[in-house]
Amino acid sequence: MPERKTSHDDDSMNKWLQWDPIYCRQAAMLLSSLLWSISGFGLGETEPLEDFRLSANCPPSFEKTQSGRCKLHTLYDQYDSIQNHGVGGLHSSLPPRRDGFTPQQIDLGRYLFFDPLLSVDGSLSCASCHHPEKGLSDNRARSIGVAGVEVARSAPTLWNSAFMSRYLWDASAASLEEQVQGPLYDPLEMGNNPANLLATLNSNTVYRQLFQQAFDRQADAITLDQIYLVIAAFETSLISLNSRYDRYAHGHHQALNQQEIEGLNIFRSFVARCAECHQPPLFTNQQIAVIGTPEPEGMPLDIGAEKTFNSAALKGGFKVPSLRNIATTPPYMHSGRFDNLRETVEFYTNGRGHAVPKGVDMQLHWHIWEPELTSHELDLLVVFLQTLTDEAFMPKTPERVPSGLTPISHQ
Ligand code: HEC
Ligand code: HEC
Repeated sequence: MPERKTSHDDDSMNKWLQWDPIYCRQAAMLLSSLLWSISGFGLGETEPLEDFRLSANCPPSFEKTQSGRCKLHTLYDQYDSIQNHGVGGLHSSLPPRRDGFTPQQIDLGRYLFFDPLLSVDGSLSCASCHHPEKGLSDNRARSIGVAGVEVARSAPTLWNSAFMSRYLWDASAASLEEQVQGPLYDPLEMGNNPANLLATLNSNTVYRQLFQQAFDRQADAITLDQIYLVIAAFETSLISLNSRYDRYAHGHHQALNQQEIEGLNIFRSFVARCAECHQPPLFTNQQIAVIGTPEPEGMPLDIGAEKTFNSAALKGGFKVPSLRNIATTPPYMHSGRFDNLRETVEFYTNGRGHAVPKGVDMQLHWHIWEPELTSHELDLLVVFLQTLTDEAFMPKTPERVPSGLTPISHQ
């Protein structure tokens, strides 16, 4: 049977004695692999392939073209520009999107996304930190990976990834294919390495055949580019553009109640200025903005995009996050510093730069100022943000994944 590498060298064997959770988990994995091989219940060897037939249908809201590719359709396609309707206008169009993958590639990406086989010790999948029941995030201030310690930042949702021009809080990844190598190989996240990932997938008979189906080739070995591509394909299928807000924007005025409409109007007002950065319909203009949010107590200042672009003017700058499904992904901001939406929106009215540490030179964005919103107006903003929830196209968690491991899997 294919074996999963768990780096059981002598040194780490000794560490088992210290009851470090990661080594206990590796011990448990080793044991269960042994049991599998004894019972002949190997990873891939005896999993019947019929259980893993790739879907030939495009996900909802995608149409299959003559050449068998999935093309997205949304009601926003009827609006032609961002500029002609005013920033923050209901009829703003969407930015360019990534689509054109085949249904098979999207579905294979789904299996990989939910398969803990991608992590070095089989303990967690992408979905552990981008969980379907937690808004495709993990409801933690900072995520925890294979090493059992917190990573530097909070996990963002993956909804509408198809429209983003850059990824990560500090905008350091230019494509989904580039981004995915971060979690896969970061020792604090999934802890894998390219050689081991290729070896594990290539020694799994089911994955070999599924990749052959998805790329229409016989007998070739799985490549890294194919792995990155199918995961990207799956991510671009995560579309959320049919919230109550959207129905309102497309002309169904009853979709929002009076309070929600008041909240929307505050959001779009030149007093609050939220829509200048969180521009509809994605609720982000995809730019970097320095707004000066506080770090959690005891955490050093995160310089954010200063590092990415080697520019002191961007110290403390982060990519403006989309606010789609925002009610489902507490806590908030890059560091998960705010527990709920009320605290988060209140940040904007507590005074320009109030949370910037003394002596730090931060060049705050000009739309960050002193809107002096009342407590009632803050409540209405929260009420409005809750109308941006739409999880109707949440992908199905596979009942089983080709590795035989438990889909998603937790620490
Ligand atoms: C240990 C938890 C963890 C795992 C596992 C994980 N992620 Fe993430 N993910 C994060 C965190 C934290 C961030 C934000 C990191 C940052 O910006 O510095 C992130 C960011 C992202 C982003 C950027 C989103 C955006 O809009 O900027 C994408 C896309 C993503 N992850 C996809 C994946 C995929 C695909 C996998 C599996 C191969 C994966 N993640 C596995 C925690 C995780
Ligand atoms: C100058 C641009 C700008 C303006 C104006 C702005 N924001 Fe933000 N917003 C950001 C940035 C950048 C972040 C991420 C900051 C961080 O993580 O430190 C953010 C984060 C958020 C978050 C948390 C998102 C998450 O996924 O954790 C919410 C909610 C939010 N903003 C709501 C608002 C509201 C409501 C307003 C108006 C009162 C507003 N924003 C005005 C740029 C802006």
